Amino acid sequence: MSARDAVYTHGHHESVLRSHRWRTAENSAAYLLAHLRPGMALLDVGCGPGTITVDLAARIAPGRVTAVEVSADALELARAEAERRGRSNIEFVVSDVHALDLPDDTFDVVHAHQVLQHVADPVAALREMRRVTRPGGIVAARDGDYAGFIWFPALPELDQWLAVYRTVARANGGEPDAGRQMLSWARRAGFTAVTATSATWCFATPEDRAWWGGMWAERIVRSDLARQAVASGAATEQDLLRIADAWRNWAAAEDGWMSIPHGEILCRA
Ligand SMILES: C[S@@+](CC[C@H](N)C(=O)[O-])C[C@H]1O[C@@H](n2cnc3c(N)ncnc32)[C@H](O)[C@@H]1O
Repeated sequence: MSARDAVYTHGHHESVLRSHRWRTAENSAAYLLAHLRPGMALLDVGCGPGTITVDLAARIAPGRVTAVEVSADALELARAEAERRGRSNIEFVVSDVHALDLPDDTFDVVHAHQVLQHVADPVAALREMRRVTRPGGIVAARDGDYAGFIWFPALPELDQWLAVYRTVARANGGEPDAGRQMLSWARRAGFTAVTATSATWCFATPEDRAWWGGMWAERIVRSDLARQAVASGAATEQDLLRIADAWRNWAAAEDGWMSIPHGEILCRA
């Protein structure tokens, strides 16, 4: 597999988009917010359905955001979100983070949320993000770390869910345990001034459990991950149905709790 042809594990099934559309600048980019100023030029790489992108655009207005996606279909999701929320200070560009079709030294901030875990060469991606950042600007990235997920109650089928996800993500050329490697990747990309932090999402209320558990119960049988898991032999359809039941059981458990860690890097260009 070459540097540029990793497969995006999740795809864009409605159950995946439901998960991504929950994201805001506050719950997913809090480590960056204090560095944003009105008038900045910001690039959001791998913007997906664009809820974070639109939040960031509101914060830097009258500055402009450039939203990048690797495929035109994915980019249309972000364009629709911007239109729905009446946000017009966003440009949309189809490009690959490994070779951005953008000039050197252009942006004050270059941001990527949950993207580096899916690309085949995250170090090259960070170098490319730095190339388009103006000297003194910021490259900011945040990724989850699947091996670091913890939950209660202990359900063996959720252990299997984690194993299946990590196997498929790796076979696709990604790194599911990205969070812990962010600082290492930044240093290998040549950054010397790096602030590395971590932050969690926690799902513990009945509403949050119903949303997160219900989303994964559907996603594990209907999204691209399900198709790839069965095709690769990582799981059978019966396994996936059992895992979906376990997600529903976890969501219904009154003491159900889950913590999802993320690694974050703020790198000075
Ligand atoms: C997990 S989604 C995150 C979307 C958004 N940043 C968010 O947090 O809601 C990862 C996104 O990265 C995009 N992506 C994957 N590989 C990419 C690449 N090589 N260049 C640019 N975008 C890429 C995918 O299409 C997908 O929309």
